[in-house]
Amino acid sequence: MITIDLRLYAPATQRNRDPILEVLKTHLPDPSKVLEIASGTGEHAIYLSEHLEQVTTWQPSDIESSALKSIEAWREHYPDSKVVRSKYLDVSAKDNHPEPLFNVIVAINLLHISPWSVTEALMKYASEHLPHQGLLYLYGPFWQAGVTPAESNLHFDSTLKKQNSAWGIRDLDAVLEEARKHGLSKKTVIPMPANNLSVLLELKKFS
Ligand SMILES: C[S@@+](CC[C@H](N)C(=O)[O-])C[C@H]1O[C@@H](n2cnc3c(N)ncnc32)[C@H](O)[C@@H]1O
Repeated sequence: MITIDLRLYAPATQRNRDPILEVLKTHLPDPSKVLEIASGTGEHAIYLSEHLEQVTTWQPSDIESSALKSIEAWREHYPDSKVVRSKYLDVSAKDNHPEPLFNVIVAINLLHISPWSVTEALMKYASEHLPHQGLLYLYGPFWQAGVTPAESNLHFDSTLKKQNSAWGIRDLDAVLEEARKHGLSKKTVIPMPANNLSVLLELKKFS
């Protein structure tokens, strides 16, 4: 019998997973039931859930079938992980069903590799699905007011736009404003290696 290994590898994961882990160790509540949107290969799901003691379950998701297959292949290699079966989840879909309870949403490297409408949809989704004081964690490059853009990010942005004119690095203030419209307020913004940011938003359902 031939076994086909469907695991995908994103080289950037090796570089960013430990800095992301350090941020999540400090900022995720105990317990954390995590929904990851746009999990990609599934490497973050396996690695982060394994190293975060406060995480009880990690639900990965994506819209690409190759990503969903890769996540399942990673799960097969780590049968004891806290990562549950991956699911198809298009955050922009109009008919997303209520989710089992989770209190944290993680979206790594999604906002700049999707149209702005996905940022809008993510904020709406988080506001409708997180409980009061639930957390939305974003990771990726952002433009920041008053901060000179790094050459590497300018180059990355133009590469993204050549691939798809609707993609591109987002303005942090615009993202925070969109979040605010949906009741999500900035908890903290943390500079990360390679000119990325960690952005933590908290949902306030009652004022
Ligand atoms: C650059 S990859 C990031 C993957 C992973 N988070 C990482 O950092 O390695 C972006 C991912 O977003 C997913 N994606 C794009 N649009 C989406 C949407 N509307 N809803 C959910 N996922 C989406 C893509 O399928 C892809 O796997």
